[in-house]
Amino acid sequence: MKGRVFSGARPTGRQHLGNYCGAIKNYVALQEDYECIYCVVDLHALTTLRDTRELKQNTYEMVLDWLAAGMDPKRSIIFVQSHVPQVTELHTILSMVTPMGWLTRLPTFKEKVRQQPDNVNYGLLGYPVLMAADITLYKADTVPVGEDQLPHLEFTREIVRRFNFQFGETLIEPQAKLTETPRIMGIDGVNKMSKSLDNHIELAATPEEIRRRVMIMVTDPARRYKRDPGHPEICNVFALHKIFTSDAAAMSRIETDCRHASIGCVEHKKWFAEDLIQALAPFRERRAELGQNPDLVWDVLADGAARARVIAQKTIAEVKERVGLP
Ligand code: TRP
Repeated sequence: MKGRVFSGARPTGRQHLGNYCGAIKNYVALQEDYECIYCVVDLHALTTLRDTRELKQNTYEMVLDWLAAGMDPKRSIIFVQSHVPQVTELHTILSMVTPMGWLTRLPTFKEKVRQQPDNVNYGLLGYPVLMAADITLYKADTVPVGEDQLPHLEFTREIVRRFNFQFGETLIEPQAKLTETPRIMGIDGVNKMSKSLDNHIELAATPEEIRRRVMIMVTDPARRYKRDPGHPEICNVFALHKIFTSDAAAMSRIETDCRHASIGCVEHKKWFAEDLIQALAPFRERRAELGQNPDLVWDVLADGAARARVIAQKTIAEVKERVGLP
């Protein structure tokens, strides 16, 4: 039998190169070998948002990007977390086997407390319990995540062991599956690519926007003048270019020319911009095509929720029985 994948992503709107390399690419590939369930975790998003007005639009834009990138609603279940409310029931039940200390000790919680000291809400503390509920409600055995989520995965495994020990084998202990792509830096060259830092390049960016963003990218920090020899191994433009071209011969020429200072950074960026425009063109076209039907995303999500609900209802019935709820 095929394994089952579950992954969740907060609705962050239009996706960027970092989202693609870190998650989406993997989501698409896993569809070949697993039964996949991909979830827009809108309830998780509520823990850090004050202004929730954009949630709907951000969900729409993210899912449209997902579909354009090749996440296939025929093969995979794509849905919105809050459309299947059983997850909140399981969250409550799992919270009873969660020692408080486990939650307050998590590095991700401490980080949030530092980031938003004036909004340390109860939901934030329970964030990992809700995530454990996501994974276990759908009986997933494999969870593709970034490294930052490993503590949450370990937490989920511990909750599952505790629940199963107390109430009998019911839930599945999931394995994390890390992405292989190195993490993508933003155009500033020092921070991870992120929308909140505005150092990103959108997958659906227009050719003009791609050129504009690429031309302000920070390059090799050790190369001050064009006559200085370059160091491709520490150049962010070089790193990104390698990911988004299949022309290995051209890359090795650029590498040599850069080391000998026979091309400058501006020249290299111009090439990279054109290659990136070309690499993203099929995605951009597909997105525009799918976007013609404004109902498509919502139809996909409604269908996904209906399919997810079937699995959720079964698990929650089993859990309630094990726990002994009347
Ligand atoms: N916490 C994850 C993140 O911030 C999102 C998430 C919620 C998730 N539920 C999940 C990821 C279940 C994997 C599985 O990226």
